[in-house]
Parts: sequence; structure tokens; C-alpha cells
Amino acid sequence: MIVLGIETSCDETGLALYDTTSWENGAPAHQGILGQALHTQMAMHREYGGVVPELASRDHIRRVLPLLEETLKQAQCQLSAIHSVAYTQGPGLAGALLVGSTFAKSLAQGLRLPTIGIHHLEGHLLSPLLGESVPQFPFIALLVSGGHTQLMLVSGVGRYQLLGETLDDAAGEAFDKTAKLLGLDYPGGAAISALAEKGQSGRFELPKPMLHSKDLDFSFSGLKTAVLTQVKKFEASGGAADQSALASFHADLARSFVDSLVAVLVSKSEKALKQTGCKHLVLAGGVGANKQLRSALTISGKKNHFEVHYPPVELCTDNGVMIAFAGALRMLENNNGSTTSGAFDIKPR
Ligand code: KG4
Ligand code: ZN
Repeated sequence: MIVLGIETSCDETGLALYDTTSWENGAPAHQGILGQALHTQMAMHREYGGVVPELASRDHIRRVLPLLEETLKQAQCQLSAIHSVAYTQGPGLAGALLVGSTFAKSLAQGLRLPTIGIHHLEGHLLSPLLGESVPQFPFIALLVSGGHTQLMLVSGVGRYQLLGETLDDAAGEAFDKTAKLLGLDYPGGAAISALAEKGQSGRFELPKPMLHSKDLDFSFSGLKTAVLTQVKKFEASGGAADQSALASFHADLARSFVDSLVAVLVSKSEKALKQTGCKHLVLAGGVGANKQLRSALTISGKKNHFEVHYPPVELCTDNGVMIAFAGALRMLENNNGSTTSGAFDIKPR
């Protein structure tokens, strides 16, 4: 069974073809990826300091058909080989989601194929199965993206229990807002991470919000405010006039920010593993590409005897492969039968 996946929830247009044969035969899941094409609109939104929904929708419209052609070519596959079409149903930007769902439904209607609407976070959640070290169910998923921060107990495909989530900003959002405060372009997650590598730990005492709370929830807005306070203090001291002092201030502050955020994410993950008795943790979502978080989780896993599984770095941020793959697993679970209704249904929230 070959499933076409279409992701258009935000500022990435991603298409992919996934063949379930290898999965069904017990081979590594990534062998089923036949082809994929991705376009990121990041450069287009950068000058506005964030994603402009109307521009995002228009660009998805422009890109989706050429990207399908590219995916088919890469997979050396004809349209007629496709068995079903999976698309991101939500959450995301309504207009952007409508482009993907309308395209998916129309294509499927023309080819008389079933469609399946996928929850964007389910795509992220299952993507670690496409990595080199495959987690066994049940596992804990730490989902850290631009819009979400959640800890989930994953007992199987479609069996997800929310254990905790952020009460305010998402981890990626905290990265992006901090990046803005330090004069870096949107989205600044990767740039903050690179800057932190050059900085010294411990120069700033930033909060580690909810580190000791008994629940598995998070809160990151206070951390961002603490960064802002430091920036204002530094500016008031006149330090910004000296270029090299400013550069090391930025690097050290980025380092402290990353240290605090990583400490909270690691500690709550440990707590979730302990509470559920799970021995496997997967990291998913855009912030899952973060080097410091990855290495801190690996160290904790060695110390606390749990195994950490990462999706391939290129599948951490939004892409079509995770949607094709989630759609494929859903179709298999439901004996190839499950489809979404005929309407152009999206669920932005
Ligand atoms: O999963 P994703 O592509 O989109 C959403 O579903 O939100 O995640 C995007 C987020 C952005 O906030 C971005 O700054 C962050 O992931 N991100 C990173 C890194 N790469 C992307 N954050 C920290 N370190 C990175 N290396
Ligand atoms: Zn995402």
C-alpha cells in the first residue's frame, strides 16, 4: 500500500510517498519512504518576524502541485500507484490547512481513493519510529514544537494519553521569542542553540519554571521575561556599546536560557518515565533537533536506565513523510478502511 502524505499546517509544504510493505514485513520503517519533497517558507516570513497566515496559504497553493510532481519523480511512481491520501487536518493555520485538505480531497476524488485526516502532532509523535533505533510501545513522547510542549504516554498507534503540557508558551515559542530579544531572525531556535554553544554556563541565574511541581506540566513565559529583564539591565548599564561585550553577553544569556529550558524538559521527562514505568523515551517536534536537549537526554538515559529515541534530524521539523507514515499506520490499523468524511474538514484548533 502506497500512501501520499501532505503537510501544510504552517509554513512548510511537505509531500511524501510511503510504502507500507517493509513495515508489514518487519523491516526498518524508514525503508518505506519512497520519495519526499519539502519547501520551507521561512525566508518569506522572516522580514515580518513571524508567520503571516495569508502569505502562507498562498505559497502552499503555489508549491503543492510542483512538489507532488517532484515526489512522484523521486519515487519513480505513477499517480495510479497511490492507494490513499493522508493530509494534516490540524492543528494549524486554517487557510494553510485548507490548501492541503482541499488538494488531498480533490486528488483523491479524481482518483477514487480514500483520504485520511491526520493530527499534526500524531505525525510528530510517530516520526521516531522512522529513526535508526526504533522504540517499542509503550513509550513516553516528549513533543516539543513551535506550538506545543507535551508529554504523552504512547501505548500504540492511536492510543495516546496526555500526561502534561505547557500552561503558556511552547518550548519552540520560548526559543523564538528569546531569539528575537537577542536580535536573531525568526525562527531562532537553531540560531539560539548555535549561540549557546559559544556561551558560558552560569553567568545568569534564570528561572527553571515548574521544575519542582508535582505535575508534568510546563511553563516557559517566565523564562522569556527573565531574559528580557537581563537584556534591559545590560542596555541600561551601557554595555551594549562595546561590540565584544555585547557578543559575549548574548552568547552567555543564550547559554543560560538553553540550560534552564533543557533542565526542565529533562527533569519532567524523567518524572514521566518514573511515574509510568516506561523505559523508552522519544523526542519529537522541531525543538527535538536541538543539540543540547539531545545530549542532556542521552546522559540522563544512561544514568537513569532508559533508552532515548530520536527521529532523523530532518524529520524533526514539519515534513510530509511523518504525515504519510502516520496515515499509513492508521490505514493498516483499520484494515485499509478508515477515511475521513467527504467534506473539506480541517481542525485548526
Ligand atoms: O515542529 P515544528 O517544525 O513546527 C511546529 O509544529 O511548531 O517546530 C518549529 C520550532 C520553532 O520554534 C523552531 O525555532 C524550533 O522548532 N527549532 C529549534 C531547533 N530547530 C527548530 N529549537 C531549538 N533548537 C533547534 N535546533
Ligand atoms: Zn510541527
